Amino acid sequence: MVFFEEEVDCGTKLGDVTGSGHARPADMSSPSTSDAQKTRHAELCAALAKHNHAYYVLDAPSVTDAEYDRLFNELRDIEEARPELVTPESPTQRVGAKPREGFVKVTRGVRMYSLGNAYDSDDLADFDRRVREALGVDEALYVCEPKIDGASIEVTYQGGKMVLASTRGDGQVGEDVTANVRTIRALPLTIPDTRTFTLRGEIFIYGADLDAINETRVASGEAPFANPRNAASGSLRLLDPRLSAQRPLRVYFYDLVERHFESHEAMLDGLLALGLPTHRAQKKCAGLEAAKAYIATFDKTRTELPYETDGVVIKLDDIGARETVGFTSRAPKWATAWKYAPETAQTRLLSITCDVGRTG
Ligand code: IVH
Repeated sequence: MVFFEEEVDCGTKLGDVTGSGHARPADMSSPSTSDAQKTRHAELCAALAKHNHAYYVLDAPSVTDAEYDRLFNELRDIEEARPELVTPESPTQRVGAKPREGFVKVTRGVRMYSLGNAYDSDDLADFDRRVREALGVDEALYVCEPKIDGASIEVTYQGGKMVLASTRGDGQVGEDVTANVRTIRALPLTIPDTRTFTLRGEIFIYGADLDAINETRVASGEAPFANPRNAASGSLRLLDPRLSAQRPLRVYFYDLVERHFESHEAMLDGLLALGLPTHRAQKKCAGLEAAKAYIATFDKTRTELPYETDGVVIKLDDIGARETVGFTSRAPKWATAWKYAPETAQTRLLSITCDVGRTG
């Protein structure tokens, strides 16, 4: 993986990215010590970014919580002694900026589209036929992937740094939630590629994390979130990013505005190689029958995933060919969302108590 061989923004070339080097006292200030602190600062930034990546992107923790905290505290001590070393990309800055009065509107150059839905085999066959007819082929190559039940987000990286995050809004105009999104540990604040990346994806929350949040909310008299989607979008739009920082939000990217890749699969692989989180559940499907097989298999396994999904998105793999297939006014014709029937739960009403108020 290329990610950790590159220079990380908050310092010099990486040496010991495991972060296991010895802590140096933060209050010594001779020039050589300063340089040593600068180097150590860069090492710690890289080590913490690497551990976040292992935990949130690869689902393979590389360090204990205690060791993570030790590294984090060492970094914080250095920054307290040397405030000039603090950059917006430092892991210490994930605690959240000061609250704001409201959100600034962001008008995007390329609007965020919705997806058309397919509810049965006929809908799927219609979708596939239209794609094949537009391309003049007998069989189209698709990529199938989970439809994640969260809140859509656009995140832009420029010069290797995360510079902007905005909500979907009406597709064309969203709201600037950069300060909130910066607190999401799953999101790298730097990537080892200086080109512009305008990424689209989903902010979501694990079901188990939602249960824990709801328990705390109910205990303190607040209404619980009805579902992970509400929890994710509510947390994203908190005016105080310090509160967003306390919500265990996650993100997966599934779309890129710029044409840095020729196919959807190459794009997903490319993002992952840059350290950007993707769902890693995609499958290339040659033709409609293969896509249907993915849908059937995914339906059996999706409840085992720690996050909620409400369908499968089927996308034409060839990004160049998508232009030929085109868009309707609100959705691409080269993709569709297969929707599973919503889960229903039955509640047995045990009793109703009526109170008569003071005024009768
Ligand atoms: S692709 C032009 N892929 O579903 C491409 N969307 O109604 C449009 N969503 O608001 C989106 N998982 O936030 C795409 N794997 C996925 C998705 C996905 C969830 C959401 C997205 C959008 C909605 C579409």
